[in-house]
Amino acid sequence: MDLYEYQARDLFEQHGVPVLAGMVASTPDEAAKAAEQLGGLVVVKAQVKTGGRGKAGGVKLAHNPEEAKQAAEAILGMDIKGHTVHRVLVASGADIAEEYYFSILLDRSERRYLAMCSTEGGMEIEQLAVERPEALARVPVNPLVGIDEEKAREITAQAGFSPDVAEHVIPAIQRLWDVYKGEDATLVEVNPLVKTADGTIIALDGKVTLDNNAAFRHPDHAGFVDKATEDPLEARAAELGLNYVKLSGEVGVIGNGAGLVMSTLDVVAYAGEQYGVGPANFLDIGGGASAEVMSNGLSVILSDEEVRSVLVNVFGGITSCDEVARGIVGALELLGEEATKPIVVRLDGNSVEEGLAILRQAQHPLVSVIATMDEAAAEAARLAGKGA
Ligand SMILES: Nc1ncnc2c1ncn2[C@@H]1O[C@H](COP(=O)(O)OP(=O)(O)OP(=O)(O)O)[C@@H](O)[C@H]1O
Ligand SMILES: [Mg+2]
Repeated sequence: MDLYEYQARDLFEQHGVPVLAGMVASTPDEAAKAAEQLGGLVVVKAQVKTGGRGKAGGVKLAHNPEEAKQAAEAILGMDIKGHTVHRVLVASGADIAEEYYFSILLDRSERRYLAMCSTEGGMEIEQLAVERPEALARVPVNPLVGIDEEKAREITAQAGFSPDVAEHVIPAIQRLWDVYKGEDATLVEVNPLVKTADGTIIALDGKVTLDNNAAFRHPDHAGFVDKATEDPLEARAAELGLNYVKLSGEVGVIGNGAGLVMSTLDVVAYAGEQYGVGPANFLDIGGGASAEVMSNGLSVILSDEEVRSVLVNVFGGITSCDEVARGIVGALELLGEEATKPIVVRLDGNSVEEGLAILRQAQHPLVSVIATMDEAAAEAARLAGKGA
């Protein structure tokens, strides 16, 4: 999960990273009030989960509450790279002397963490990395040791900080490592990390990605989920504990095992070409799925308005086909009249005969059983196309 800058700022503060006072506002009046409370020069910043806000006009300085209000009026509702601005961060203005760059990320190919640091921050770091790679220090970090003082010193030395500035940057880097490790992040990026006129080091911008797989260790992270922009179907699926990802097509897909579901998506995309349809979602009910899980999955997919047909593709291994069949029949019973979309079922493997018998007995008019994956995908695509 990617965080907004203001959320990253809060985490930084909790871990002792030096940040400026700041408040979130969702209306121009709130922004004016925040500016009044902060006093003096403030900066009004668009809160969107994308970079380049400054260039897009989403970061404005304001000398008084009235200017902050005007800045918020201009920024709220703005579209930045397809992201609508619903909130601004109003933060104290900094008297910036120098802008640096610092980040920690997961380097999967090296199975380590990687710290990156430069005395030339502020600008697009991707550009710096390409044009002048020597200006960007890249220091591997052993996960078991992390960034202790010695490692922080190595990072600042490689980045070319003068010893007196390094003395101030080193503790900030160690606190940022605390954020990375303590919050189970996969990315912590500060651009710019600034030195103010009086020599203080401050994280002026923050980008944090949290590892969702570690969410169970951080009940407080649930508060970072942005209900307003979350996909409602994905939210409901997550509540039900389903592995569901919304896609843009018309054929709902349910399978067991991520590999089988992925290949089902491919087959549906291929079969759907001639009908102008594609897969509507990824949904893996997992190994050993019960009738209840199948039923929950089907009900999420059927409530997707884009969906015009559903393909259930299950290969019974640990999952037994009779459970899957019971889930389908159960979900249709529950939904009653609400179920209006055709369901194509392909079952094979463990208890397939029992599963097919259950479906035959139910004789549900919406359900058709097809023996192979290719044929089932073709039929589901045809049904979705016909409904257009
Ligand atoms: N509190 C502040 N006081 C003074 N200047 C600021 C402050 N916050 C940001 N700035 C200036 O605005 C510039 C852009 O800010 P910031 O890095 O937060 O946004 P951005 O880099 O444009 O957005 P993104 O990081 O999403 O690409 C900074 O490099 C800095 O010069
Ligand atoms: Mg920035």
